[in-house]
Amino acid sequence: MPNMQRRHCQTSNNLQSEHDPLVIEMSRTHPPVVPAVFDPEYRAALDAVMARFTPSEMVGAHRWKGTDADRAAGAFFAGRRLGAIPEVGRVVLTNGTQSAFNMLMGGLVGRGEVLAVEDLTYPSVLVLSKRFGFVPHGVAMDGEGMLPDALESLCRRKRPKAMYAMSTLQNPTTVTMSLDRRAAIVAVARKYDLQIIEDDIYSLLPEAQLPPLSALAPERGWYMLGTAKSVASGLKVAYVVTPSETFSDTYFWPGVRSTFWMAAPINAAVSTQLIENGGTWRIIDAVRDEMRRRYTVVRPLVSHLDTSVADGALHLWVRLPTGLSAERMIGRVRSLGIAISGGAPYAPPDEIQPEAIRICLGYVRSHDVLAEAVRTVAASIQTEAKIPL
Ligand SMILES: Cc1ncc(COP(=O)(O)O)c(C=O)c1O
Repeated sequence: MPNMQRRHCQTSNNLQSEHDPLVIEMSRTHPPVVPAVFDPEYRAALDAVMARFTPSEMVGAHRWKGTDADRAAGAFFAGRRLGAIPEVGRVVLTNGTQSAFNMLMGGLVGRGEVLAVEDLTYPSVLVLSKRFGFVPHGVAMDGEGMLPDALESLCRRKRPKAMYAMSTLQNPTTVTMSLDRRAAIVAVARKYDLQIIEDDIYSLLPEAQLPPLSALAPERGWYMLGTAKSVASGLKVAYVVTPSETFSDTYFWPGVRSTFWMAAPINAAVSTQLIENGGTWRIIDAVRDEMRRRYTVVRPLVSHLDTSVADGALHLWVRLPTGLSAERMIGRVRSLGIAISGGAPYAPPDEIQPEAIRICLGYVRSHDVLAEAVRTVAASIQTEAKIPL
């Protein structure tokens, strides 16, 4: 087995784990940095913002829900996914998707009420369920995402108020709902009057883009389009499109709760500028191209594993051979200098924790380190499973 720790240290300019600089970070779904495109775009946007507003004008007040220009930019950005530009009054700018969750989940679901989630779901939602006192219930999935019959059965038994779904590149499974599946899920949501909280954060990288659930059911879609997985993780800007302007006021009006949901003015202004001048899409295109190059490196190294390289996905979801423990595998790989994560945090309380791992492909900078790390993880799985190499 190669000594990944020593080799990695010799690789200059590589993004490493903040916790341990010797560890190769493959546990986070960051998009790859694309400095050749991102840096000039970001600098130009920042210069334009500084030329357009005085600093005191820009930073002197909170940006509740975003300025009119921020929300118009958000409407345009989300409109590219929704198929039509939503009314600006329905758009709210937030300090990232997690901030939007903090505003929406408690109010839309309510204490003691049920939220339907995919049977493996984004862990933050499970954390928030404890904070806000709602009950997440898993809905079985197949290769096309949440099963409509399973959702309907949950609706009959538990009467959920809302559902939370990632219709494109579901985290952690990387499954994308087909168009028919989207229509069938929306039909169940309508029948049982479910609000649809849709997290479309992974939808901007795939080549083939299907309409979000919220485009099929705008009257009940709470659509969230964050920039963290396609533009830059640290930008901390997400756009929410609510079913109506009244709803956006009700759930996001600053007096409702004290929290941190408002975007920082400089990030908001730069994001608006990047949308207005097209820079956002040039950055996303560069990230997509870089991911395509990474798949070329990675695909042959994992062809023997139970995984797929999904178009646009920032990570691999690897189901381990029978008898292998994800926790043990994470520990073994960590001892070789690589941080990966497992499926356990994604399981709602009533679901089985899967013996599967996530290998995130975006955080490391060099293709050589990427290849060597993926090769090491794949070899470790084979060794642990006692499969001849
Ligand atoms: C499904 C999902 N939603 C949201 C986020 C975080 O988004 P943001 O940085 O906009 O809060 C992540 C990050 O891992 C994620 O996987």
